[in-house]
Amino acid sequence: MRTRIIVLLAVLALLGAPMLFAGGGAEAEEDELEIFSWWTAGGEADGLEAMFEVYEERMPGIEIINAAVAGGAGTDAQAVLATRLQGGDPPDSFQVHAGQTLLDTYVAPGLMEPVTFLYDEHGWREVMPEGLIDLISVDGEIYSVPAGIHRSNVLWYNQAIFDEHGLSAPVTLEDAFEAAEVLANAGVTPIALGDTNTWPATHVFESLLLATLGPDGYSGLWTGATPWNHDGVYEALTVMDEMLEYVNSDHAALTWDEATGYVADGTAAMTIMGDWAQGFFTAEGLEPEVDYGWAPSPGTEGSFLLVSDTFGLPRGAPHRDNAVAWLEVVGSREGQDAFNPLKGSIPPRTDADRSLYDSYLRSAMDDFETNAIAPSVAHGAAANEAWADDVNSVMSFFVSERDVDAAVRNLVNTAAEHL
Ligand code: GAL
Repeated sequence: MRTRIIVLLAVLALLGAPMLFAGGGAEAEEDELEIFSWWTAGGEADGLEAMFEVYEERMPGIEIINAAVAGGAGTDAQAVLATRLQGGDPPDSFQVHAGQTLLDTYVAPGLMEPVTFLYDEHGWREVMPEGLIDLISVDGEIYSVPAGIHRSNVLWYNQAIFDEHGLSAPVTLEDAFEAAEVLANAGVTPIALGDTNTWPATHVFESLLLATLGPDGYSGLWTGATPWNHDGVYEALTVMDEMLEYVNSDHAALTWDEATGYVADGTAAMTIMGDWAQGFFTAEGLEPEVDYGWAPSPGTEGSFLLVSDTFGLPRGAPHRDNAVAWLEVVGSREGQDAFNPLKGSIPPRTDADRSLYDSYLRSAMDDFETNAIAPSVAHGAAANEAWADDVNSVMSFFVSERDVDAAVRNLVNTAAEHL
């Protein structure tokens, strides 16, 4: 298979080179399929490739253009995508988070075609969770096809380091700080963070908010039911401030996968990251319960902070038929069972083959069934892109300034703009 990474074009677009794209869609070749995502790191890129292989078996002769833009959580990719959509140059299909990002940022301005017809043709309503379909539906129409379900609130740890220091998986925030203290005293970096992109700070923060507010209180932040000057918000920021005492000194220079790599190779002991970290560890040849362990982020047991990657059909997709065939792969059992075991996500389809998933992913499937589900903001479910971007800015500023009161004020102001 030939896939071309057109990162260079994407970067040029970010720098403002609209002429490159003017009318680009109209000149498209018939036998292509351009798929836009931000999956370039270990695990996520492998999962995407596995879905491409399923597509190629079904659609021989179609060349897949892999238009991935690196950056994690889509913060850089979304800027490139916005430029393309504004310039009338959509890809054939793009990765988009279920929830407010899809509905508010893309569906509301009329950028997407409904794909309800695929659910009718393939009976997908019977094999995908209703709650998830609700997150991608408006006015009776469904607007994308979920490829996988991730959990944001996971703490990962290096098993050998934990064994060596007699530690077990922390359950509460107190447990986590006790473990961090033991490790710091032994000269081990307790917590890995890689916040060269702005979202990983928000990523940690949302897990802390979930711990201090509980799933209902946390969810209420995004609907107006929980005020942003709630004690739980102060507490989460105070905990985060304390946590930053234990992170690697080069955190501002690292990406999420480089920080996760610190846990993989023993440079640091723990990290809070979504379960695409499991995909990263798998790509590194590591095994759950042998090389690494996990637990819900401290204080969040019983809650599942949901992230779902979906693909949609942009209006004006240059190769619409090929895109529809892609969405059929994304929604198929075969496609999901090829993708998710490598990606570190669980399949949205309830009829997936459980035997293909490792012990971590099977535990995530069980938790998804039984836990309270709350929407991630760092990964598009709780708020639209503009609000999530603003929270990212506040949290990045917080990591450098460590001013709890200022962060609460900024979060309150930001919420007032978006609610
Ligand atoms: C998330 C996305 C995951 C993973 C992660 C890091 O937003 O949902 O699939 O790709 O970013 O890139």
